[in-house]
Amino acid sequence: MKKNIVILGTQWGDEGKGKIVDYLSRNSDYVVRYHGGHNAGHTLVVNQKKIVLHLVPSGVLHANVIGIISNGVVISLSNLVEEIKMLEENRFFVKKRLFISNSASLILPFHIAIDIAREKKLGSNSIGTTGRGIGPAYEDKIARRSIRVGDLRNEKTLSIKLEKIVDYYNNQLVSIYQSQPFDYKIILQDLLKSKNVINDMIKDTTMILNSAIKNKKIIIFEGAQGSLLDIDHGTYPYVTSSNSTIGGVITGTGIGPKNLDYILGVTKCYSTRVGNGPFPTELHDDIDMYLSKKGNEFGSTTGRKRRTGWLDAVALRHSVKINSLSALCITKLDVFDNLKEVKICIAYQDIKTSEIYTSASFDELENMKPIYKKYPGWMKKTLGIKKIENLPIAAKNYIKSIEKIAGIPIDIISTGPDRNDTIIIKHPFL
Ligand code: IMP
Repeated sequence: MKKNIVILGTQWGDEGKGKIVDYLSRNSDYVVRYHGGHNAGHTLVVNQKKIVLHLVPSGVLHANVIGIISNGVVISLSNLVEEIKMLEENRFFVKKRLFISNSASLILPFHIAIDIAREKKLGSNSIGTTGRGIGPAYEDKIARRSIRVGDLRNEKTLSIKLEKIVDYYNNQLVSIYQSQPFDYKIILQDLLKSKNVINDMIKDTTMILNSAIKNKKIIIFEGAQGSLLDIDHGTYPYVTSSNSTIGGVITGTGIGPKNLDYILGVTKCYSTRVGNGPFPTELHDDIDMYLSKKGNEFGSTTGRKRRTGWLDAVALRHSVKINSLSALCITKLDVFDNLKEVKICIAYQDIKTSEIYTSASFDELENMKPIYKKYPGWMKKTLGIKKIENLPIAAKNYIKSIEKIAGIPIDIISTGPDRNDTIIIKHPFL
């Protein structure tokens, strides 16, 4: 039996990972968020109620599951406290079963201010960040000046560190961006208030996870964003600032690679992207309008309309390779229910040289034009189907084609937003 599985996105995020994590966590003991921050938005529908999580692992909606926010995550304490409150209001009580790494770096108000100010200054060359301070917080981590969760335990040293870092950011905010400076004492007060809520949750999560592995517990590692937004392997510089690919699990938690038994790549049956950057299969026509509306493709963190496009098999194969994926989960199949014809980009053509590529370098996509293969649509309702044999033949053929193109099996298909709208072809834990 497989014990530890990773669930990560193969595209530019918003693949529907949260729902799959939620679905599979009913069989798990721990669910771990290991990178990113509250730039992520995982929308879950439980008993017809919509819950959006940004930081807390999706699995905690099951009362038996322990949630971990490990060292690789950058944490906005005020957002975390708000999320815990929202969960409690919805009768999900997580305070005794959510642990937060003492070595995770904090996102503080000046990170958000500088993220927004930089994007504004970049104008049409902006990255299109979520404005949540993610990049600046990771910069501080690498520059070894972060304030970490563990620093909250000593008010005196916290105050000294905070004064220093606020001074560093105020210099930039005032002189370069003509913005308002921050008062470190106000930030300190807010931090101490939030600390009172999370104090008992602060732990060495690396130790917790390694002893969970030793005790043969079942762990799900929940990816955020998607592989093509990875800082090293994505469409740089239009990426997020963490490793959303498989390596992020190892560095972001402190467990070794031999402990990972199965890696599931979640892939939407079309593509979306928020923010700027290359997107070879992007659509600008009626199909774009259709996918946005039927797929509700509006950011759960920022509300922005997502750019939409056909499934990109070149990108998918890249993700299969760099993550050494075991299998795929295809999501949002029901969104295609009213389309007469669907397409998959099977290769790129360089518009300058006319050369054709079936694999590509993902920081050089600007000149790539998609080459499509067409498939008949099914024009039948697949929403809520729970057995593969009940899918229309054209939908089954489309799924089979993705499997062939990706070169790995499809183990799960999602046919709707509810946690039960799911077809399990092969259960990841078996
Ligand atoms: P940042 O992570 O806020 O710095 O944003 C960098 C890029 O990643 C932007 O294009 C964002 O739109 C994108 N991004 C960040 N988080 C998500 C996510 O959860 N889903 C989809 N795109 C995201």
